[in-house]
Order: sequence, then C-alpha cells, then structure tokens
Amino acid sequence: MKHRSEVYRFGVSLEKTLIEAFDHHIEAQRYKSRSEAIRDLIREDLVRKQWTEGGTVAGAIVMTYDHHKRELVNVLLDIQHDFQETIISTQHVHLDHHHCLEIIAVKGSSKDVENLATTLKVQVGVKHLSLSISSSTE
Ligand code: NI
Repeated sequence: MKHRSEVYRFGVSLEKTLIEAFDHHIEAQRYKSRSEAIRDLIREDLVRKQWTEGGTVAGAIVMTYDHHKRELVNVLLDIQHDFQETIISTQHVHLDHHHCLEIIAVKGSSKDVENLATTLKVQVGVKHLSLSISSSTE
C-alpha cells in the first residue's frame, strides 16, 4: 500500500438542515472537526464496499463460549485450523470457571471471513459472537 501524506481540500455544499444535523451528530460523537468525521464516513463506506464486493478485509471475531460443552473446544480448534489462511492470531482469555473469551484477528476475502464467523457462531455452546471489520487492506 502506498503511503500518501498529501492532503486535498474540497468544498461541500449541503442544505442548512443537513449540516446542522451533521454538526449535532458529530458533536455527540466527540469529533473535533467536520473533516475527521467526514474522513471516517468515507473510510467506513470504502470498507463496506470491500465487504459487499468480496474484497480483502481485516478485522476481529470476538466470541464467548462455555468450554464445558462436550467437544466444543476441539470443534472450535478444528474450525480454526481449517481457516488458518484467514486467521492471523487468536487470543484466549479464561473469563470464569465455565466461560472463555476468544478474540480472533482475521484478514482475507470477505467471503472467507464471513464463512469462518458463521461456522463458529452456530456451534452449540458458543454464547455470543460478533464480527467487526475495521479496514480494507487496499
Ligand atoms: Ni478458557
């Protein structure tokens, strides 16, 4: 990826009601400037585009599960080995006597990432799973 430090400025024309609503929104979100808020909107839209068009994405799967469920740990390990090209790293935290929290960093095609998340989510004993895509890599 090329790093570009040049900054471009451009003017945007908006209806008064829209800019007022936007300013109210970004103040609530604690943005320091409209520019930063607009940058984030553009990035989000590009990530969404990568996701919907099957491009390369990076993010994390966060899940909790009950490791006392029969065979669940082995099943989850098998699945992760099947997706070794998509998984960058896995962090495991023992929450309490029953529950584990796992954070799986992923990078790959949106199709593979979604397939991995869905395959993990449907296993009996997995209590909660969320998938967060934070960037496209292009
Ligand atoms: Ni554990």
